[in-house]
Amino acid sequence: MSERIYLASPHMGGGEQKYIKEAFDTNWIAPLGANVDALEELCAGYVGKGYGAATVSGTSAIHLALKLCGVGRGDTVFCTDFTFMGSCDGVMYEGARPVFIGSEPNTWNMSPEHLERAFAAADKRGKLPKAVIIVDLYGTAADYDSLLPVCARYGVPVIEDAAEAFGGEYKGKKLGSFGALSVLSFNGNKIITASGGGMLLTDEKSQADKARFWSTQSRENRLWYEHREVGYNYRMSNICAGIARGQMEVLEERVAQKKTVHDRYAEVFKQSALGVFDPPRGDANYWLSVGVIDEKSEVAFSDVIAALSDENIESRPLWKPMHMQPLFEDCEYYGDRTEERLFARGLCLPSDTKMTEEQQARVIRAVKGALEK
Ligand SMILES: Cc1ncc(COP(=O)(O)O)c(C=O)c1O
Repeated sequence: MSERIYLASPHMGGGEQKYIKEAFDTNWIAPLGANVDALEELCAGYVGKGYGAATVSGTSAIHLALKLCGVGRGDTVFCTDFTFMGSCDGVMYEGARPVFIGSEPNTWNMSPEHLERAFAAADKRGKLPKAVIIVDLYGTAADYDSLLPVCARYGVPVIEDAAEAFGGEYKGKKLGSFGALSVLSFNGNKIITASGGGMLLTDEKSQADKARFWSTQSRENRLWYEHREVGYNYRMSNICAGIARGQMEVLEERVAQKKTVHDRYAEVFKQSALGVFDPPRGDANYWLSVGVIDEKSEVAFSDVIAALSDENIESRPLWKPMHMQPLFEDCEYYGDRTEERLFARGLCLPSDTKMTEEQQARVIRAVKGALEK
C-alpha cells in the first residue's frame, strides 16, 4: 500500500524542541511558564491585538469569550451555521440558545443579509443576542466590511472564530483581529499546532486577565484556596505552548505551502466537474482546499471520498451545517440553504503541507478517476 496521505497533519518546523527542552531544563512542566507567556505575546502581536490568553483548546477559548460577553442561561447567541461544532459548544455550556445564520455563496461564511434579517426579527421581539460568533471558514475571511456594521448598529459584540484561519488576512489585516474577542485553535489538524490548544485575543487587559482567572479555576488572590466564581481548568501547558512557539516560526511558510497546494488543485480541476473553491482576493490561509461537485454530475462526494480512501488518501465531507444537526433541530435558522447545497455536493481535499508534488499527483489521479466514472 502507498504511504498514507492525510487531510492536514502536524508539520513540525524544527524549532519546537528547543522550547520544549527549555521547559524541561527549567522544570516548567505546568500550565504556566515562559512558553505560555511568549506564545500569548507572539499571537497577539502577530494579529495586532493587545493581549492573548492561551487555553487548552479553541473550544474553551470560545467558551471564555462568551462568558466575557455575559452570555448566560436563556440568552441567545447568533452563530455561524456552516461550521464545526466547536464554534457552538460554549453557547450550550452556558445554557444559552444558538440562532443559526446561513452562508453567502461568495465566502461560504455568514451572510450579511441573513444576519440583518435575524437582527430585525430579534429587535422586533425585544430580545437581542448577547454575541455574534463569526467564523472564517476553511481559512477564508468572512465579509467583515458588511457584517461588522450590522452588529455595531445593534450594539452586539462580535466573537471572531478564526480557529481555521490563523495566518490569513482580510484586506491587509490579519484574521483574528476582527472580533472584540477573537479565537485561534492549535489543534493537531490546524495550520500550526500545539498538539492541542487555543488562544483568546482581546484589546482589553482586563478581559485577558479575567479569562486567565477563569481558566485557572477562578482562584481568588488569597493564601488559601478561595472561590467566588465557577472556574475551569482551561490553561495551556507550557510544553504545548513550546510546540506552538516553535510553530510560529513557520506560520508564513505554511500559508504559502497551503496556497501552492490549493492553486495546483484549482488549475488541474479547472475544466472538470469539481469546482475548487477560490477564496476572494487570495488572502486566505488556504487551510483546507475544498471543492463542490457540479450538480449535473452523477458523481457523489462520497464516491470521491471512497475512491481516495481506496488509495489510502484521507478526505472528508464539508462541515454538516449546524441547523441540520439533531442536537439543534428546534433552533432558529436564518438562511437560504446555501450551506445545505454545499454540504450535499462538497468535500475537503488533502491539504497537508508535507504532501509532495508526487503525492498530490496521486490525489489528483484518484479524484479524476472518480469524476470520470
Ligand atoms: C471553526 C472552528 N471553531 C472552533 C474549533 C475548535 O477548536 P479546538 O479543536 O481547538 O477546540 C474548530 C476546530 O477544531 C473549528 O474548526
